[in-house]
Amino acid sequence: MCGIIGYVGTRDASPILIESLKKLEYRGYDSSGIGLLDHQSHLIVRKSKGKIKNLEELLRARPLPFSNIGISHTRWATHGLPCDENAHPHTDSAHHIAVVHNGIIENYAELREKLKKQGCRFLSQTDTEVIAHLISVLYKGDLKLAVQKAMARLKGAFAIGVISKDHPDMLIAARVGSPLIIGLGDKENYIASDVPAILDRTRRVIYLKDGQMAVLSKGRVEVFTFDGKKVRLKVDTVSFTVGSAQKEGYDHFMLKEIHEQPAVIAAMLKTCLPAGRAAHQSGKLKLEGLTISDKALASIKKITVVACGTAYHAGLVGKYVLEALARLSVEVDTSSEFRYRNAIIDKHTLMVAVSQSGETADTLAAVREARAKGAKVISICNVIGSSLTRESDGVLYTHAGPEIGVASTKAYTAQLMMFYLLSLKLAQVRHSVPVRQQRKLIKDLQSIPKLYREVLKTKTTIVKIAQANSHFGCFLYLGRNINYPTALEGALKLKEISYIPAEGYAAGEMKHGPIALIDEYRAVICIAVRSHVYEKMISNIQEIRARKGNVIVVATRGDRQIAPHADYVIEVPFVDELLSPLLTVIPLQLIAYYIAVKRGNDVDQPRNLAKSVTVE
Ligand code: M6R
Repeated sequence: MCGIIGYVGTRDASPILIESLKKLEYRGYDSSGIGLLDHQSHLIVRKSKGKIKNLEELLRARPLPFSNIGISHTRWATHGLPCDENAHPHTDSAHHIAVVHNGIIENYAELREKLKKQGCRFLSQTDTEVIAHLISVLYKGDLKLAVQKAMARLKGAFAIGVISKDHPDMLIAARVGSPLIIGLGDKENYIASDVPAILDRTRRVIYLKDGQMAVLSKGRVEVFTFDGKKVRLKVDTVSFTVGSAQKEGYDHFMLKEIHEQPAVIAAMLKTCLPAGRAAHQSGKLKLEGLTISDKALASIKKITVVACGTAYHAGLVGKYVLEALARLSVEVDTSSEFRYRNAIIDKHTLMVAVSQSGETADTLAAVREARAKGAKVISICNVIGSSLTRESDGVLYTHAGPEIGVASTKAYTAQLMMFYLLSLKLAQVRHSVPVRQQRKLIKDLQSIPKLYREVLKTKTTIVKIAQANSHFGCFLYLGRNINYPTALEGALKLKEISYIPAEGYAAGEMKHGPIALIDEYRAVICIAVRSHVYEKMISNIQEIRARKGNVIVVATRGDRQIAPHADYVIEVPFVDELLSPLLTVIPLQLIAYYIAVKRGNDVDQPRNLAKSVTVE
């Protein structure tokens, strides 16, 4: 789960590699490193624990010579501690060959033992180091052949970049499972883990396929299969642009992204909802990128949603909405579970894959599994041109803009909104919701950006509540029905940035175990907005109070009944309960944020996490 960049050309490689590498820091920030060949073909490697800024500091202290070829890497540790020794690039014992790697080599332990017996000296605990040694022992003067032979011995998912002091104009790349692209420039070529990393340098790219390797020099790119057959190059021209994100006065990207939600949702609604009188009368939605005919949509028998983390929680809300509006049976699974359970799906199943980054390894694997079984796949994705979008039959872009904070906020609410729009679209083609009700729903959806602004105006109260409760060592989040996933999402937000143990639970399940946790040392956040399960939530809250739990309630504005049951009340405006998850999550995002700030944590890049999980 790392980012890799390689360059071969006529310009100085190191500034290019470092600048592009920064765009891949979302893939991990445990360590970073760079490897170059200087003009005497010496292999020079510099690496540093922690974020890329640490590597930059090292390079300022120990500058690199001019070089036309190099590889670089930003790491999320899988095998071995995040330390200098385990940072990439890794080299062979003779320090002739350097390798950067994204993925996991599953048979590394067995290879390592064999290579040690052949005299290789290992300096790190990583799985990656075996690749450098393996290529080295297989090398008999032909680097391409050595890499090719090494590929046949590796098991797992990987994308690699290789340079060697014996081949000062040759950069080799190979992939199985993990993404890798080649960028074509003018007398220079690149390899990268994703397109945005090199988009300001070239728009002409080759998407390397599984089981392919590429040999790049400054004037030439050749692609081969692992058995050495040359592949005809397919060059794509990328048309999308990538916005760059600044904090714009906010202390953190996460806070900025929380505040961007009204604008993100307003833009989505503007694009998708019917505009103009005639369109308004017909009520027909425009879901650009859906690319599945109304007839095909009408014939779907079942929907399967796959996603991870926050996107999975969006999928859980999506289930309630799709079932309510499209009247289709929906199952939701985490991608990592779906891919190994031999799910029953066929050509009558629509898979909806949800991912902010579009690079989550498990979600990509789930999509491949579903397509192999004949299902059509629609992805709900934020990053244009990402791997997921290239592997789906249709793409619904959330267009939320770059999300930099590791804790997902605006991407989540954009995913929720896309589920409402997709459900409405399915309801239209399946005639499952009367037109009058559709119009009311559209009107309610249009009010959401304004209601978001109203919730954000209550921030001062939320800050005080967060600060007053930041000392608790354990939080429980409870919700029912369509706000049960909101409870899960609130708990995940708190865990990932404050490091406080937090559990989300269906309130009805509380008596089946979690109630044992309740005492005066726990905080319990309950989502109890006006709905058909409101009274049930009140009963749950009373049960917590009876056991001295500290209760924070997210309630509907003006609800006078709730105050006696709560230590703190956070109000959100009234909306139809079907839409309530769009609003109730905002206070939970803010609570998590302000508790993490109070605790002095790195909110945007919390420990042990990466923005995009590119290994399974
Ligand atoms: O890029 P994706 O939406 O596929 O990522 C899925 C999860 O890794 C992600 O939502 C993760 O749980 C976030 N850090 C949550 O804030």
